[in-house]
Order: sequence, then structure tokens, then C-alpha cells
Amino acid sequence: MAQLGSVTLVGAGPGDPDLLTIKAAKAIARADVVLIDDLVNPAILAHAAPGVRVVEVGKRGGCASTPQAFIERLMLAEARAGLHVVRLKGGDPYLFGRGGEERAYLRSHGVAVEVIPGISSGLAAPSSIGVPLTHRSWSQGAIFVTGHGKDSASEPNWAALAQSKLTLVIYMGVARVAAIQAGLLAGGMAPGTPVAVVQSASLPAQRQLLCPPTCWPAAWAAPASSSWARWCAAPMPGMTMVPAPCWLKHQVFSSAMRAFFLAQARRA
Ligand SMILES: C[S@@+](CC[C@H](N)C(=O)[O-])C[C@H]1O[C@@H](n2cnc3c(N)ncnc32)[C@H](O)[C@@H]1O
Repeated sequence: MAQLGSVTLVGAGPGDPDLLTIKAAKAIARADVVLIDDLVNPAILAHAAPGVRVVEVGKRGGCASTPQAFIERLMLAEARAGLHVVRLKGGDPYLFGRGGEERAYLRSHGVAVEVIPGISSGLAAPSSIGVPLTHRSWSQGAIFVTGHGKDSASEPNWAALAQSKLTLVIYMGVARVAAIQAGLLAGGMAPGTPVAVVQSASLPAQRQLLCPPTCWPAAWAAPASSSWARWCAAPMPGMTMVPAPCWLKHQVFSSAMRAFFLAQARRA
């Protein structure tokens, strides 16, 4: 029987290959087989040994995806065959990445698992538009939250989040803006609060919007003259952020984004 292999869950970062950690690059170089998610930039496979087996196991919301149970069984089978498996995940494996589930499954079958953290898109998206998640004067913390609960029972408490006065970083929220908007406004979020959306943060295709929450789901014209609906339909991952309102007064947003925000706020 082959000696048992191992699995490394590797955070591949938000998309820019230069945001891969050195530890992640070394793990990829040692891999016998790589399982790659579809939010991972394939450019980082340049770190892999020539001829290494690569299996695409994409799982995007609403799209056909590889069943989670299949991915877990595949990692187990490869490790039992004595291989070193690298599972490449977008951002960080433990932030909305099912890293906890996969580690528990593999450990329950006696497989050694290492987890290498990655730069989450929830860190890359705000920094890409100049929004600090915390600030000694204006934001005493940040909350990473999903906009897309597993079921209605796991829907985040938007009213409580609106009251928190902390920076909100909402993953997987772009397609659910109407429900999120309703929850935040019902919870007392001021209608003039800036809401920023960044798609494909850290990649050349990155684009961003800044608008008041009241305009959120309406079919308004974006600076790039595409409608909100077209934005949402674009096959690009998007991060929705609610920074402290004072950021509007500071020089973090471009003048075009600020002008767009002010025009939308007047129309609301
Ligand atoms: C299943 S979650 C995975 C998050 C990942 N583990 C992380 O830490 O970034 C997928 C969501 O992450 C966000 N996301 C991932 N990459 C992104 C990027 N480059 N720009 C903006 N949002 C991104 C989107 O909200 C997307 O729907």
C-alpha cells in the first residue's frame, strides 16, 4: 500500500498573481496534483513543476459546479495514492472558502492537512479603492459577512449590522443587493451612507462603483455607462463594502466616483 500523501489548502489571493505568498508558491512547486478553483488566476500555475496534473474544480454561485463531496473524495483518493495534493482556493481558504469543511473531512480520514492563508478579496477590494477597513477615529472594526446565506435561517442580521457602525465587507452580495439594501435601511443605516462595489479587485479588469444605498438596486447608469443589471450579470466576482460615511469627505475616492455618488444621492 502506498504511503499516505497529504493535502495543502492554499490561499491563492484575490487574483493578481503577485499577491500570492511565497509559502503558497513553494507549496505549489512541491505538488503532485493541483485542484484549482475558478476564482484562482491560472497564471500562478507557473510555480508548479512541469507536467503536474491540474484538475479544475470550479464552484461559482448559480453556475454548474463540481459537487463539494466529489472534490473532497478526489483529494482523499489522491492522498491515499501517496500524492501531495494542493488545493488552490481564491483569497483565503478559511474565509467563505469551505476550508474548514475540507480540513475536517480529510482529518477524519487520517490525512494530514496544512492550510496556507491567502490575501482575501475582502482585504484586497477595499485597499484597491483606498478604503481602510479600520481607522482610529472613524471605524473601530470591520465585519466580513456573506450576502448569500446557505438558507433563510442563515441570512445575516442586516439590521444589527447596520447598527454596528463598523465597516461592512459583504462577499457574494452583488446579486442580492435588494434584500441587503432593505435590511440595512430598515436597521437604520443612513440613506446617504456610501456603498462601494469593486469587481475583480486586483486584476486588470477591476472596476468600481460608489453610490448611496437608496440607489443600489435601481437601474441607474454607472460611470462606465452600463446599467446596474448588466453589472450584476457580468461574470466577475464583486465585493460590496459599506465604509464609514466620513470617507466621502476624504480624498480616497476618485473625483469621478464622488461626482457620480453625489448625482445619485440628489436623485434618490
Ligand atoms: C466563495 S467566496 C470566496 C472568497 C475567498 N475565499 C476570499 O477570501 O476572497 C467568492 C466571493 O468572493 C468575492 N471575491 C473573490 N474574488 C474577488 C475579487 N477579485 N474582487 C472582488 N470580489 C471577489 C466575491 O464576493 C465572490 O462572490
